[in-house]
Amino acid sequence: MAGLFITLEGIDGCGKSTQADRLVRALCQTGSEVIALHEPGGTRISEKIRALLLEPANGEMADECELLLYEASRAQLVREVIEPALGRGAAVVCDRFYDSTYAYQHGGRGLDETLVATCNALGSCGLVPTCTLVLDLDPAIALARATAGGADRLEREGLQFQERVRDAYLRLAEREPRRVELIDASGTPDEVYDRLVAALADLLPAPLRSEVD
Ligand code: TMP
Repeated sequence: MAGLFITLEGIDGCGKSTQADRLVRALCQTGSEVIALHEPGGTRISEKIRALLLEPANGEMADECELLLYEASRAQLVREVIEPALGRGAAVVCDRFYDSTYAYQHGGRGLDETLVATCNALGSCGLVPTCTLVLDLDPAIALARATAGGADRLEREGLQFQERVRDAYLRLAEREPRRVELIDASGTPDEVYDRLVAALADLLPAPLRSEVD
């Protein structure tokens, strides 16, 4: 498991944060060092950028500004936290990484794909996840869930935006099948977790694998 970098992805309300928490708790029980992160955020500077990005009052934010803020937050997280953790041999579980930028800023906002890829290379400092799990759920169900307690700036974009984001994730899984795996996120949290552990079977230590045997 040394130096394992797992990312979880999906549209708003797909349930990935619940699954990430659960995966992290299970990994911790194996005695390994596990670092749980979510993007944007995870450092003092990145959390400030997160607040700017999600604040509903920042409705006038230009798409290019949004893209660069996500990348700035990410670069700080990679340099300050992720690279040192992987260097120590820790397992890093990150709720969102550069695939979110492809899905939201290219798929959702319509920014040029090559431009987003170039920015992603900079923001990630060239770091590529070992494995990326995309939790796939009907956007109407996911958005209703995500906005039940109020909507942040991105969730306010509505259903068509989330549908474009989902389509981008589906394209990504098709394009990079070795790294990116689609997980059916419908059903109970237990059912989704079993699918997630099964998808990670080759990478996880035996105690975790046995949960789905
Ligand atoms: P969260 O709700 O999973 O914490 O993510 C915050 C929001 O930011 C979510 O709506 C997805 C969005 N986002 C992007 O648009 N681009 C990105 O690169 C990242 C990491 C998140």
